[in-house]
Amino acid sequence: MSTKILAHRGASFYAPENTLAAFQLAYQQGAHGIETDVHLTKDDIPVMIHDDVIDRVTVYKGPVRSYTYAELKHLDIGSWYHPRYHQERLLTLADFLEWASDKHLILNIELKTNKGHYDGIETIVCQHINRFNMVNRVVLSSFNAQSIAKIKEINQQLLTAWLRSTIPYPLEKKLTQVNADGLHLKYKALNNNVVKKLHEKGFYIGSYTVNRADHLRRCFKLGCDMIITDRPDLAIQKCWTYKEAIMEDDSNDC
Ligand code: G3P
Ligand code: MG
Repeated sequence: MSTKILAHRGASFYAPENTLAAFQLAYQQGAHGIETDVHLTKDDIPVMIHDDVIDRVTVYKGPVRSYTYAELKHLDIGSWYHPRYHQERLLTLADFLEWASDKHLILNIELKTNKGHYDGIETIVCQHINRFNMVNRVVLSSFNAQSIAKIKEINQQLLTAWLRSTIPYPLEKKLTQVNADGLHLKYKALNNNVVKKLHEKGFYIGSYTVNRADHLRRCFKLGCDMIITDRPDLAIQKCWTYKEAIMEDDSNDC
């Protein structure tokens, strides 16, 4: 399997995270896919934002959950990064799926159920995916194991990944219990052994957030199936450099 390069919150090294500008740039840079985060508003609208509060990306404060979408939709979520992004607005999951619908992209939607509690978020997200006919193009991930299990209860066909900053133990048993197809592991915890074990047992392995050239190269070398990076352009460049270097022994691909 070749390594898929996913843009973390879009090409978020170069543009404000989780905005259309960052998603568009990732697409232009040639990313295979986009990773983005979903929370629910007060009126249960799924929106693409990383934090559970709006403080960091707007001039206002408070939990996403305490605002209706109508209250949030006019807020500038780009100026914090650079004034030239002042026209960026909060996207709903529907906006995001619609934007992606005519593009050849994998969509990794992270359910932010590790901190906040969002009753029914799994059902709402799955309904959106069905509506846009995207069951075969999405990966749903979460740090919350219960969310992964719920997704699979709703639709067994949906690809799921458990997000972890450390390797779960016992590895295979835990992933099977959670009902995950893959593990999205923090780069720091990645090693040869975990990649090998997961592949032997039929799970896939992704790593986040890999932004350094030497770290990217190591992910290719270890045979990661997915790299989640703020810099898809750099990852693609390093992928080609790595490919050229291994041409002689033809032992890997990316
Ligand atoms: O999905 C990988 C990564 O996004 C998980 O951490 O905090 O950046 O959403 P975070
Ligand atoms: Mg995320």
